[in-house]
Amino acid sequence: MQVSVIVLAAGQGTRMNSDLPKVLHRMAAAPLLHHALATAQGLDPARIVTVTGHGGEAVAAAARDWSEVVETVVQDPQLGTAHAVAQAAPLLDGVEGEAIVLYADTPLIREETLRAMLVARKRHGVVVLGFHAREPGRYGRLLTQGDTLLAIREFKDASPEERAITLCNSGVICAEAATLLSLVAEVGNANAAQEYYLTDIVELARARGLSAGVVLCDEAETLGVNTRAQLAEAEAAFQSRARAAALENGVTLTAPETVFFALDTHVGRDAVIGPNVLFGPGVTVESGAEIKGFCHLEGCHVSRGATVGPFARLRPGAELAEDVHVGNFVEIKNAILDEGVKVGHLTYLGDAHVGEHANIGAGTVTCNYDGVMKHRTVIGKRAFIGSDTMLVAPVTVGDGALTGSGSVITEDVPPEAVAIGRARQVTKPGLATRMFEKLKSIKAAKAKGQS
Ligand code: UD1
Ligand code: CA
Repeated sequence: MQVSVIVLAAGQGTRMNSDLPKVLHRMAAAPLLHHALATAQGLDPARIVTVTGHGGEAVAAAARDWSEVVETVVQDPQLGTAHAVAQAAPLLDGVEGEAIVLYADTPLIREETLRAMLVARKRHGVVVLGFHAREPGRYGRLLTQGDTLLAIREFKDASPEERAITLCNSGVICAEAATLLSLVAEVGNANAAQEYYLTDIVELARARGLSAGVVLCDEAETLGVNTRAQLAEAEAAFQSRARAAALENGVTLTAPETVFFALDTHVGRDAVIGPNVLFGPGVTVESGAEIKGFCHLEGCHVSRGATVGPFARLRPGAELAEDVHVGNFVEIKNAILDEGVKVGHLTYLGDAHVGEHANIGAGTVTCNYDGVMKHRTVIGKRAFIGSDTMLVAPVTVGDGALTGSGSVITEDVPPEAVAIGRARQVTKPGLATRMFEKLKSIKAAKAKGQS
């Protein structure tokens, strides 16, 4: 079955109290819009159209950033949800199959729920996603009779009896694409808000002899983000869902409630994630890798059998091959570490390539930035970088070479050579004792002068 998805993202989001368009606020390290697009993508849709308005260009750019297949259309001015859907009509003219309308500010809808709506569409011309609200507030109310949906009444237009109904509209609607577009074209704005309500299509469909029905979902799924408090609530809901999914997929989380996932985090089976680990966007952790406590990962790839942390930071472009060991207080950025590399302690590797089984001593720093440009460091296979080596890039240390502890390496080191770049040690026998005696006598003379 062919499906097209229309994602409404034109609203202003005044209650966020922000310069940023609401749908670009982040949840799980991704804009809210990307969550809606990810859910849409799960249906393998023929078309995805995002309707933008407030912050139009930035929102459209974020949509394209998600995927080039997403089309965008501008709604200006914003005259209501039916008006928003109608803007997609020229793009979807003649498209076959089903259409689903999603809101970009409702990021927790599950793909399974949309699939249930597509199934229900075999029985009804229009299918609405509803939920029983603990506090129905200003949600639209679903007026039903048995299995049939009679109408959706917006709060502003509802009678006291209708306001007492707790079955509410999530906003997600499914109908045949051509039907949906012809219905929204008929919607008027004779209502309390003088807006073109998408919800009016239920009654319009019924007037055409089509039936309307409701698919129910959990209230948690329909949580809409209108305020920062709701954004935090949605974040918490996303995280508890992601933790449960990781555990279900065979990942060990020693303290699940302290691990934070991004929308696109991939963690393989039998990986072990310690407490207080934060995943930024673009992280893959393969099967059997271990991320110990208090690590911060972003835009990186950790292969099988690798161990990271505690207290390590992997930044974008960090590529750890199999059995790499990255220890405490190590930061890695835009660097490839080949199989079996060990970086145990207190090190910064940036813009680097480290050959297999090289050993990087404590306190090593790739001095990759000259204040204007970034430069690369290349370390060969089985090289041994002594503790506290400063590698002033661009620089290459050959295979099997060694640098002396405390060296500042400014010139390339050939394979198998030893490079020492530090001042020679000077040793003066007995000087320490004589120095301390002298200092003590100075201190005593000062004390006497003061008394
Ligand atoms: C809407 C529903 C209501 C439902 C509620 C669920 C209508 C008329 N009402 O109300 O029944 O209970 O959602 O959250 O549909 N948008 C546009 N262009 C516009 C107006 C809105 O793109 O001109 C987008 C918004 O960015 C948002 C979504 O549509 O993503 C919903 O709009 P909003 O104004 O929040 O609708 P509600 O009043 O909450
Ligand atoms: Ca809303």
